[in-house]
Amino acid sequence: MTLEQSSFAKVMGGRAVKRIVFDAETIHARVRQMGAEITAAYPDGDLLVLGLLKGSFIFLGDLVRTIGRPIQIDFLVAASYGSGTVSSGDVRLLYDPETRLEGKHILLVEDIIDSGRTLNRLIELLGKRHALSLELCALLHKHIAPDLKLEPRFLGFDAPPEFLVGYGLDHAENFRHLPFIASLAE
Ligand code: IMP
Ligand code: MG
Repeated sequence: MTLEQSSFAKVMGGRAVKRIVFDAETIHARVRQMGAEITAAYPDGDLLVLGLLKGSFIFLGDLVRTIGRPIQIDFLVAASYGSGTVSSGDVRLLYDPETRLEGKHILLVEDIIDSGRTLNRLIELLGKRHALSLELCALLHKHIAPDLKLEPRFLGFDAPPEFLVGYGLDHAENFRHLPFIASLAE
């Protein structure tokens, strides 16, 4: 951990935080467990860890270092039309992984599952790539997605129905670097 939580008022630039929902120690302990779960779940075969940018970048960085088997890493950039705290509209793939997906176990890593719209679209697209398997790993799940096509096989935490920032999660590109996850005051 590089930042003391007591200094978060400063790092937030005066923006009010309602509360810290998951502190850095809690996150790291759970991420280590998830790495062990993933290691055990894939005894053999090629495993490609596909991080969904930008939100998963810190989670993915911590997670992959706890996976005790060979892996490959690539990224996807998906953007949903519209901005703000409510995700809306269709989903576009802005960056397609250069790594071959065929014949590999694909583990899609997402920061948070909210409406599930992004994931449903991605699962549809990746489902056409002839992977050996396709599973989902999410740090947070709000459990409000009405028709999620694939539930995460690996899940960090159930998330409260609040807008969360930190540990990769942003609000208008701010707060991604916070080592903890906080809910933002309205
Ligand atoms: P979905 O398509 O509605 O599931 O939205 C998924 C994406 O919206 C996530 O990958 C996040 O980037 C973003 N998102 C959803 N909820 C939150 C939140 O509480 N804080 C920050 N970003 C969020
Ligand atoms: Mg986002």
